[in-house]
Amino acid sequence: MSVYHKKSNLISYLSTSIKEHKTIGLVPTMGALHQGHLSLLEQSLKENDVTVISIFVNPTQFNNADDLAKYPRTLERDVKKIAELDPNIIVFAPTADEVYGNNVTAENYSFNGLENQMEGAARPGHFDGVGTIITKLFDIVKPTKAYFGEKDFQQLLIIKALVKNYHLPTEIIGCPIYRESDGLAMSSRNERLSAQAKTKSTFLFQTLTEAQNLFKTATIAEVKAFVENKFKNNADFELEYFEIADQETLITAQTKEANKKYRGFLVAYIEGVRLIDNILLN
Ligand code: PAJ
Repeated sequence: MSVYHKKSNLISYLSTSIKEHKTIGLVPTMGALHQGHLSLLEQSLKENDVTVISIFVNPTQFNNADDLAKYPRTLERDVKKIAELDPNIIVFAPTADEVYGNNVTAENYSFNGLENQMEGAARPGHFDGVGTIITKLFDIVKPTKAYFGEKDFQQLLIIKALVKNYHLPTEIIGCPIYRESDGLAMSSRNERLSAQAKTKSTFLFQTLTEAQNLFKTATIAEVKAFVENKFKNNADFELEYFEIADQETLITAQTKEANKKYRGFLVAYIEGVRLIDNILLN
């Protein structure tokens, strides 16, 4: 099992693979690995000669110092899970110094306006931080393909825009949301929930599924009102937003148009933990 902390060592290891024209799959993560992350690794293993996972809690994408401080860091456990899946996977777990030097700041990016919607509006600067770290990781690893989950659907579109707008030679692969058997989307943040809150959080997927059913017959305004009302009647959760948007532009929709695909996007708090989920509505 190879764990690299220094980018120079990883680069020199991968240069041999590149010379041999091997394909490299990269799965960028912030660690606290769960089955959702592992499903991305499994897809990369199937499609590439070499698979690299990065584990790095990226400070420039957090706009809340408390959220950054509380983010779970479990490298030893993560490495064990990776080794159990496949000991040939390469782990890159750098320090902030190693990645950013003494300039821990984000660059500014243009993502065709995607960055102004939902998570971009709720977390100012967040996607500049994501763009910055992904550009740096791609520069180090030079992946043929990189894998991102639909759980962070807006992030997936942002990364697709990043490679297109900035001409990065990596193919971006979107992977389905991996859920607990009760429907809760797996997330590193779930580790911060009490057992009771975790059970209650199946409410998010239940509500999204009900919204998906209702979407067949109701207007967008009616579906939005239905979801907002469900949260008003549930004292355990605080709804940050529920939006219905065109799944390509992420512009929030007022009326349904033919030939368009819509998604429902949800962010809610329970026990002070911010949970995110989404579902295809049609
Ligand atoms: P992180 O939250 O660790 O997620 C790493 C990758 O795993 C992301 O692409 C995310 O969408 C995916 N993922 C998380 N939970 C998933 C689930 N239940 N099913 C499927 N995929 C899931 O997203 C980040 O880290 C960071 O922003 C990062 C891209 C690493 C940049 O710092």
